[in-house]
Amino acid sequence: MEICVVGAGYVGLVTSACLAYLGHEVVTVESNPNRLDRLKEGVVPFFEPGLQEFVSDGIKTGLLEFTDNLDTAVKKSQVIFIAVGTPSLSNGEPDLSQVMSVARGIGGALDSSRSRVIVNKSTVPVGSGNWVEMLVNQGVQQVQPVPARSSKSDSHSFYVVSNPEFLREGSAIADSFYPDRIVVGSGDEEAIDLMRQLYKPILTQDFDAPDYAPRPKGLEHIPFVVTDLASAELIKYSANAFLAMKISFANEISGLCEKVGADVKQVMRGIGLDSRIGASFLNAGVGWGGSCFHKDIMALMQVAKEYSYPTRLLDATTEVNLVQRQVVIQKLQEELKIIKGRTIGLLGLSFKPNTDDLRDAPSLTIAQQLIKMGAEVRVYDPVAMDACRNQHPELEVTYAESLLDLATKSDALVLVTEWEEFKRANWNEIGSVMRWPLVIDGRNSLPEEDVKLAGFTYRGIGR
Ligand SMILES: NC(=O)c1ccc[n+]([C@@H]2O[C@H](COP(=O)([O-])OP(=O)(O)OC[C@H]3O[C@@H](n4cnc5c(N)ncnc54)[C@H](O)[C@@H]3O)[C@@H](O)[C@H]2O)c1
Repeated sequence: MEICVVGAGYVGLVTSACLAYLGHEVVTVESNPNRLDRLKEGVVPFFEPGLQEFVSDGIKTGLLEFTDNLDTAVKKSQVIFIAVGTPSLSNGEPDLSQVMSVARGIGGALDSSRSRVIVNKSTVPVGSGNWVEMLVNQGVQQVQPVPARSSKSDSHSFYVVSNPEFLREGSAIADSFYPDRIVVGSGDEEAIDLMRQLYKPILTQDFDAPDYAPRPKGLEHIPFVVTDLASAELIKYSANAFLAMKISFANEISGLCEKVGADVKQVMRGIGLDSRIGASFLNAGVGWGGSCFHKDIMALMQVAKEYSYPTRLLDATTEVNLVQRQVVIQKLQEELKIIKGRTIGLLGLSFKPNTDDLRDAPSLTIAQQLIKMGAEVRVYDPVAMDACRNQHPELEVTYAESLLDLATKSDALVLVTEWEEFKRANWNEIGSVMRWPLVIDGRNSLPEEDVKLAGFTYRGIGR
């Protein structure tokens, strides 16, 4: 199939490379000239495990190409994915300006050569499917006066479907090939059938698994969930809100564990084995971050507000998370007594391991707070330091060259991102160079016994 993907970010680029791998002809449209230049040279402009190799392969086979020409890309395609960003505005509403401009642009490029499906992969509020349809029609009318509608009888026919994305940064390729489900929202049978055809190799797991994303044992079939447009849009927001709520739940219980002398790791294991609850997203720590959870919960709350509908669980989920970022600072205060004048080393910057994404990363809030309290903050991250230097030049931190360099000049270490490098570190060596062997494990993921044996004072969360 001939596919156009608009936006070469985490979602758009991974989607493009996966569809090209499955044999589709993909042209990816990117408006950022620097990003586009790098992609044309075959260089992936952000860190995502396996993606570099995957994109290089797509370019080599001739099935993946990059352009800034939306018009040509749309004209040659049967399916057009919108995968641009929908960041939060300061009032919590999603900024839909990128989607708006792309939808009108697609409308302006449509011709009567074939019927097309426009797929909304960006996370957008309920009702956006209809809104995108209206914008595409506006785009059509700007270039030719005869009104076009999303109906089969019209010459410029198109259908808008919602196909929310559930990939996780850090494991985006495997998540795209082996998703828990594919959700497609639409009122049109033909459009749904086309989407089923597009995803058939994934739905039936009928493709050779790439070396860098082996197929989970026994996986034969992926559920294809067909809904109406509004339900598909709400599924995405609700899924993220629920995951964030699970983490906030674990964090709320972690505070209680500290009071009563229980261990949140044991408590969460005990409840997570209950199949009605499930073990994932129950890790207590410095809380969730990233490009999606906060912005999607805010957007969901905004939608509810429009209907004067209360969102008490969502309010509590965000409130718990905000407070949780302060917990490591309280523990530092308990141990060091005075923060002013101390040197604190943060292990990890990215919002989670295996990505260089710093959007809403807890490390930034914690660093800013410590600086405000008069501490010198040093940081080390295996991949996200360049991104941090470029995106946050205002952040007055010192970048260490290695974990050992970070430890050498620190009074205390705080684990913020649970990179493997930190979990496997030689804690004897690290302890030997520190002035004050203190570590606050903000993710409960360091080998506690080894760390203690190395002479550290170890403080976890909720233990
Ligand atoms: N990142 C994730 O883990 C994730 C997961 C699921 C869903 N989502 C959703 O997917 C969407 C995209 O997220 P992302 O993280 O990939 O965003 P991103 O900001 O990383 O990427 C968006 C890309 O679109 C490009 N772009 C913007 N306007 C354009 C235009 N007019 N023409 C061509 N390109 C344009 C930008 O330059 C950028 O490269 C968002 O709605 C997000 O909420 C993201």
